[in-house]
Parts: sequence; C-alpha cells; structure tokens
Amino acid sequence: MENVQNKTAIVTGGGSGIGYCITQELLRNGAKRVAVIDLPIPRTHEALNKLQAEFGKQRVILFECDITKPEYEETFKKAVNALGGLDILVNNAGLVNDTNVEKTFAVNCVALIHGSLYGVNYMGKHKGGKGGTIVNIASSIAILRYAEVLPVYTASKYAVVGFSQAFKDYYDKTDVRVLTMCPDMTNTAFPKTATFFDFIGMPTSWHNDFSASQSPTNVACGVVQFIQKGKNGAIWSVMLGERDECVLHAHEFQPVTSVPVM
Ligand SMILES: NC(=O)c1ccc[n+]([C@@H]2O[C@H](COP(=O)([O-])OP(=O)(O)OC[C@H]3O[C@@H](n4cnc5c(N)ncnc54)[C@H](O)[C@@H]3O)[C@@H](O)[C@H]2O)c1
Repeated sequence: MENVQNKTAIVTGGGSGIGYCITQELLRNGAKRVAVIDLPIPRTHEALNKLQAEFGKQRVILFECDITKPEYEETFKKAVNALGGLDILVNNAGLVNDTNVEKTFAVNCVALIHGSLYGVNYMGKHKGGKGGTIVNIASSIAILRYAEVLPVYTASKYAVVGFSQAFKDYYDKTDVRVLTMCPDMTNTAFPKTATFFDFIGMPTSWHNDFSASQSPTNVACGVVQFIQKGKNGAIWSVMLGERDECVLHAHEFQPVTSVPVM
C-alpha cells in the first residue's frame, strides 16, 4: 500500500469544492506539503487562508494561475521547486460550461493533459525521478451515466478516461501510476455555476438533485484511499453509502486493444 505520509502534492483547482477537500485530506493524512494551483480570484485566497490556518503556512502553498494559459508550465515548475520535489499530482480543476465547448475542453482536457505531461517529467524514473502518482478527476458521467443536458461536459470527461487509459501504459518506463477517479454527483459550487446545453429548450432542473448528493469530503476520502490502494490504470468511482460512509467502486474498463508503442 502506498502512503501519502511525507509526500508532496500538487492539487489543481484546490481553492474550492472537491480540490479543497482533497488538499485537506492529503494534509490530514500526513502529506508533507501541498501546492494548490487555482485561478487568481478572491475565493482562492480565502481558501488558502483557511487551509494555512488549519495546517500551517509551511504545509500549504498557493500558486495562482489559469491552467489553460501558457504560463501553467512555469507555474508548475515553481510549484515543484517550492515543494522540493513531487510525489502526487491531482488533476482536479474543471468546469461545466456546455455553452462553451472550447473552454470546457481547455480546462477539463487540454490542461489536464499538459499537467500530466509536466508531472511525469518531474516524477518519471525515465527522467531520473523516483516515480509517483497522477490522479485524474473524471466523473461518473463518463462510466456510469451520461447527462443529456451536459453533452459537452460528458465528452470532456470521456476524454479524461481515454487519455488516462492510454497514458497508464508508460508505467514500466516512468514508475508513475495513472489513476482515474470518477466521482458521482457531489454537492459543491459546481452545479450552481454550471451552464447547460441549450439545444431545444431542454429542462435544466437536473442540477437540483445535487443538494442530496455526497459531500466533497466524501470524495476526498475516496481519493486518498485510491492513492493508497489503487493499481496503475485503475478507474474508481466514489459515492455516498447508506451509513454516510465513503463507498468506492472499481470500474471494469474494457479498453480497445492497445497498439504497441514503437
Ligand atoms: N461536483 C460534482 O458533482 C462532480 C462530479 C464528478 C466530477 N467532478 C469533477 O470534480 C472536479 C472538481 O469540481 P468541483 O465540483 O469541486 O467544482 P468547483 O467549481 O468547486 O471546483 C473547480 C475548481 O477548478 C478551478 N478552476 C476552474 N478553471 C480553472 C482554470 N482555468 N485554472 C485553474 N483552476 C481552475 C476553480 O477555480 C475551482 O477551484 C472537476 O474536475 C469536476 O468535473 C465534480
């Protein structure tokens, strides 16, 4: 079993919702230091202040950056330097804006892919690194259900699963596990800020269901357990159990036959 104790981590989108709780859970479980990368907005600062009040200024650091911009690479480098190395990368930042295909894919897929490539560059044993773990946050929408009011978001999360499944095959050379977490509906700001696909006047009441859904802390507990126990390439979902416990499901993904790497 891998442990998070004394590990360093980067969490994108750690200034809110699931990412904030993942940062908290990593630190509660003994991570040495976590770097949060999130947008330069007041909410991010407030989140950092709260995290530092709980865990101390040394253990949580903020890097403000829009990860869809070219400066993400430099910010990532600064974060790794400030952490003194990288063991865990959680590609969590995401948005639901089905009226903006480009922005949805820029954040949910393109930035996640760039982040994974930066991460493997620092952690990969092929580059002299000591290995590590990448957790890509997809959604249950990509494995258990789809949402007709969110076709663009759904496609972006299928892309996360597809990228992660192919990327996992470099494990032998990199020693970097690629894990895909697909949380079920979670009560964060997400549904309130979501923009739905407006095609033929579809009902948009779907998001109301979120109030009864799991807490972001539940997802964060699942992510930490996943880091501790997940095998390279695994896809897990996390949902709320009947007795308020965190329930994890391993998803059996049936990949198309991989083409051998030349
Ligand atoms: N809430 C749910 O029901 C649910 C379910 C499954 C998966 N997810 C996924 O979980 C992840 C976190 O979502 P959440 O529910 O916590 O939502 P959230 O809106 O609370 O958090 C998303 C975070 O990403 C950050 N972010 C967005 N665009 C960014 C950019 N360009 N650069 C840097 N940071 C950026 C935001 O500032 C925010 O802190 C997302 O990837 C989402 O798709 C959410």
